[in-house]
Amino acid sequence: MSDSHTPSRRRVMAGNWKMYKTQAETRAFFEAFLPLIADADHCDIVIAPPFTSIAAAVEKTKDTKIGIAGQNSHWQKEGAFTGEVSTGMLVESGCRYVIVGHSERRQYNGETDDIVAQKSRSALAAGLIPIVCLGENFTERETGRTEEVLSQQFIGGPGALTHEEFSRILLAYEPVWAIGTGRTATPEIAAAAHQFLRRCVQDQFSAEIAAGLRILYGGSVKPDNIQGLMAQRELDGTLVGGASLEPKSFATIVNCK
Ligand code: PGA
Repeated sequence: MSDSHTPSRRRVMAGNWKMYKTQAETRAFFEAFLPLIADADHCDIVIAPPFTSIAAAVEKTKDTKIGIAGQNSHWQKEGAFTGEVSTGMLVESGCRYVIVGHSERRQYNGETDDIVAQKSRSALAAGLIPIVCLGENFTERETGRTEEVLSQQFIGGPGALTHEEFSRILLAYEPVWAIGTGRTATPEIAAAAHQFLRRCVQDQFSAEIAAGLRILYGGSVKPDNIQGLMAQRELDGTLVGGASLEPKSFATIVNCK
């Protein structure tokens, strides 16, 4: 299998704002951020604001190439699901992406691999690009179970999609022990996990799909470690939490070549 960084693997730099930023803060962010990334033609840029700030983000990025993402969506088209938002609603609001299976949703909202598969399917059917997250926790890594866990999450989640569906998703490797902790994975650890995931994709689907899949790394990505991470050919981009909240720091990450 070729792991070469082909031009078809265009880099994706995504920011996940989690439960941060009001509408006013969202507008202020883009006013400062847009001039800083005006020359960034080498990558796709995605921002996932909270639901209530999506409209403001879409409005502010109207004439740009920035894609807006939902942080979550339900797998049903509509129904009695208090507090949930459908993929169709995200599309109508101007979103082009949705994050699926983030470890915080797995941990606090009981999102299982099967739910991840269903949500991914529903996102694709609505025309959204799912950014499907997976990753091991600290104990799993410390006890040598990383590959077992990644393989399990892969098979039960995105691995359950059809070839055609899978070819349209983005994968994000996010080791739980690195999220919000300041303990980023070393570039080598991240690259090894990406390589392993790419092998899972090849086994489940095909070498061609594996070679074309874009895998983002997430977990304490900062302006001062982005160079080392992106020097790894296995990393096709990043999913950034904390450091995406501040225009200058996210711009430094986006502009890294
Ligand atoms: P972090 O979050 O960059 O703050 O570690 C990453 C994520 O949760 O996607």
